[in-house]
Amino acid sequence: EKVVLAYSGGLDTSVILKWLENTYDYDVIAVCVDVGQGEDLSAVKKKALSTGAIKAYVVDVKEEFVTDYIYPTLKASAIYEDDYLLGTSFARPLIAKKLVEIAEKEGAVAISHGATGKGNDQVRFEATIKALNPLIKVIAPWRIWNLKSREDCIDYALQNNIPIPVTKKDIYSRDQNIWHLSHEGGNLEEPWNEHDQSILKMTVAPEKAPDKPAFVEIQFEKGIPVAVDGIKYNPVDMIYKLNEIGGSHGVGIIDIVENRLVGMKSRGVYETPGGTILFEAHKALEKLTLDRSTLSFKKTISEKYAQLVYDGLWFTPLKEALDGFVDSTQEYVTGVVKLKLYKGSCSAVASASPYSLYNEAFVTFGEDDVYNQKDAEGFINLFTLPLTIRAIMKLKENSE
Ligand code: ARG
Ligand code: SIN
Repeated sequence: EKVVLAYSGGLDTSVILKWLENTYDYDVIAVCVDVGQGEDLSAVKKKALSTGAIKAYVVDVKEEFVTDYIYPTLKASAIYEDDYLLGTSFARPLIAKKLVEIAEKEGAVAISHGATGKGNDQVRFEATIKALNPLIKVIAPWRIWNLKSREDCIDYALQNNIPIPVTKKDIYSRDQNIWHLSHEGGNLEEPWNEHDQSILKMTVAPEKAPDKPAFVEIQFEKGIPVAVDGIKYNPVDMIYKLNEIGGSHGVGIIDIVENRLVGMKSRGVYETPGGTILFEAHKALEKLTLDRSTLSFKKTISEKYAQLVYDGLWFTPLKEALDGFVDSTQEYVTGVVKLKLYKGSCSAVASASPYSLYNEAFVTFGEDDVYNQKDAEGFINLFTLPLTIRAIMKLKENSE
């Protein structure tokens, strides 16, 4: 029988590959999904085959990742617990979707992954598999085997002639894709330890960023970014371009304690340079183009959306319904925003839209035709009627 394994080429998934063969006598099909982790994936494929996989796939999903996962989340302004731009969270359903497609094509009975039993990723992978094909079995070795640590994995690898990555021992648990890079574990597990800036890979430390600010202009059509500084990019190249600009100015570094779905808190450092630029720009454009009540209602949707994405509930009816609402709000989110990047900060300094609801003629203190200042008196009388009634009651009470 065949099993499809989400394979990265690292120590854990290499050990899992062999363990699946040793334990269940499965034929392992290794699948490496390219979400922009920036590794040599042909080497990863070779390694899977030399470790014993009967077949190995590398699937490039970068464009699908940007257009079908990143854009909807950007349009929804979904940010988990006020800070986290969900870089790992929304990659998982896409990876799992590819695993299911390959499992179906290959007639595999099971899918295996290297997420631990303590984290969010196991939930995201498995929720997606259940939503797309509940007949496929899931094997999560970290919840089954007796290996307790990285050291145990190394021993297992040595005993089974599994090539161990020669890279120097890295204490952090990292996850990288085109949108972000996360760091967890190691000395970050003590929240009193300030993170060491040498861990940063996508961004320079803000202190080391240039002393001169940079400006960048993002153009949107219906909530989707289409051009940077007037130049059109395809979705993938645009993210790379913005990562480069944002990264060189130390933009998009957060260091947070977050609530995992499985109950415990965890501490992580995240680098999302291009994503931070896009979220800031999109926010400024919505302020210009959305009316007050839509903007305010959308905030509650954003929070719900972020929670669904974090919890791995991407392929759900509620998520689809929220997308419907969000898309309708984005109809006129078209225009351009100019941002200033300076030593880690990223702020919108100018915005313009053909659908701007902002009208200098209305807001001005000078004379105008649509706004008669005399109307304000009646408006205030009715708007404040409940307060007036309450105050009159109190006056009466006191005089009795
Ligand atoms: N805490 C983040 C999240 O749940 C990042 C998880 C990183 N995953 C990993 N396998 N290193 O989305
Ligand atoms: C893991 O436990 O596999 C990584 C962290 C997470 O999933 O939250």
